[in-house]
Amino acid sequence: MDFDTVIHSGRIATAEDVFTGDIGIKDGRIAALGEKLSGGAERIDAGGRIVVPGGIEAHAHIAQESSAGVMSADDYYSGSVSAAFGGNSAFIPFAAQHRGQSIDEVLDTYDARGQRSVLDYSYHLIISDPSEQVLAEGLPQAFARGITSFKVFMTYDLMNIGDEGMLDILEVARAHGAITMVHAENNAMVKWMNRKLADRGLTAPRYHALSRPELAEAEAIHRAIQLAKLADAPIFIVHVSTEAGADIVRREKFAGAKVFSETCPQYLALTRDDLDRPGMEGAKFVCSPPLRGPETQAALWHHMAQGTFESLSSDHAPYRFDETGKFLNGADAPYPKIANGMPGIAMRLPYLFSEGVMAGRITLERFVALSSTNAAKTFGCTTKGRIAPGMDADIAIWNPEAEWTVTQADQHDNMDYTPFEGMRITGRPETVLSRGAAVIRDGELQATEGQGRFFARAPVDMSGIPAVSGPEFDRACNFDTELR
Ligand code: URP
Ligand code: ZN
Ligand code: ZN
Ligand code: ZN
Repeated sequence: MDFDTVIHSGRIATAEDVFTGDIGIKDGRIAALGEKLSGGAERIDAGGRIVVPGGIEAHAHIAQESSAGVMSADDYYSGSVSAAFGGNSAFIPFAAQHRGQSIDEVLDTYDARGQRSVLDYSYHLIISDPSEQVLAEGLPQAFARGITSFKVFMTYDLMNIGDEGMLDILEVARAHGAITMVHAENNAMVKWMNRKLADRGLTAPRYHALSRPELAEAEAIHRAIQLAKLADAPIFIVHVSTEAGADIVRREKFAGAKVFSETCPQYLALTRDDLDRPGMEGAKFVCSPPLRGPETQAALWHHMAQGTFESLSSDHAPYRFDETGKFLNGADAPYPKIANGMPGIAMRLPYLFSEGVMAGRITLERFVALSSTNAAKTFGCTTKGRIAPGMDADIAIWNPEAEWTVTQADQHDNMDYTPFEGMRITGRPETVLSRGAAVIRDGELQATEGQGRFFARAPVDMSGIPAVSGPEFDRACNFDTELR
């Protein structure tokens, strides 16, 4: 066949196996896998490199106003460029409904914002106002537009939809084969802790961690799963930050509940001590759920290797360390008034590769599953997330030996800090293709603004749930002796 591009001699990794071979690309799709494929108008030598499906970032806040009215620092251009430098070839940020907005209005707004993307994109629809009109017309309209995932909040007064609202949404989601993502923290516990801390004048960033107890997450995860079971609908628990929460997810999943989940690099790499840095530096590390203790890191790595989480996601929520972001409410704002979230869309995969694969905690196959293949399955990206004939040629080529130190400049985002500054990383994506076209080539941006396309998604793929675990865990990660 007359290929447009041949990637040759790469160590190709999928979620199932690793082999050396060539990939032939034609018209933006993978046309052939083989050995010694000839031809190709362009040939990319991947000798000594690892070739994987491009990452699919399934949790990012891009060109999104928080409920408190703070606009994220990255739009679809800077956010997608940063994602691409981090080894991603597609992403699914959120389209957020604020109370009173119709769903069509929300989606039209994000369709306009998405025009700038260099990567293919879709969105999850955040619902803060499940009115009768939204349930009866808005959500079916979203589904008709290829939006097959909804997200709800159990916390934040302006977002919390309450248990009944969640049941209503789960019911509609079930009818359409959509999956409901949930930010699970017990709102009353958080508000009560906020009041106790405020009464004592304890408002520095470090108290943010105390204000959102581990129990608040565990309670809400448990409750969310029971609600989903009652409605017989699949549920996706986002940004699990605690061992107790992960244990609940695992137990329910392997007991047959339709539960999916993710954790994020910040909960593996950072701790609540980072909130205690001098002055207001700690504000950089304010996110919800909050950073936890070092014992949590070990427990979450254990769950990563075991199959508790389908994905590792960044929860990229970029608010600059200035008055447009973290300090919109003043330079010494009390922690409840500091914008929640931290950037990391370019760090998700380098971190996972370095601390996961290179450090021997997970296999390369699980890296592919956690970074791309599972997100494609869960969120209905039918042409992405796998290296196989017929799939989009969304491919990342990694140099597994590149050693580097993280700096803000490497992030290529619109931020003024990275919480991962100074971290040593082994392995780096050097080339990223999106539908066969180079977005990043040998570390240089090649994309033009707006070359990404919106993609409609299919219903959640429930095959293979509950996830299987065991042998790989034993092989890759001896938790009891090494990580505990
Ligand atoms: O603190 C965070 N994670 N902010 C982003 C919004 C969310 O809750 O995911
Ligand atoms: Zn070859
Ligand atoms: Zn959240
Ligand atoms: Zn988030």
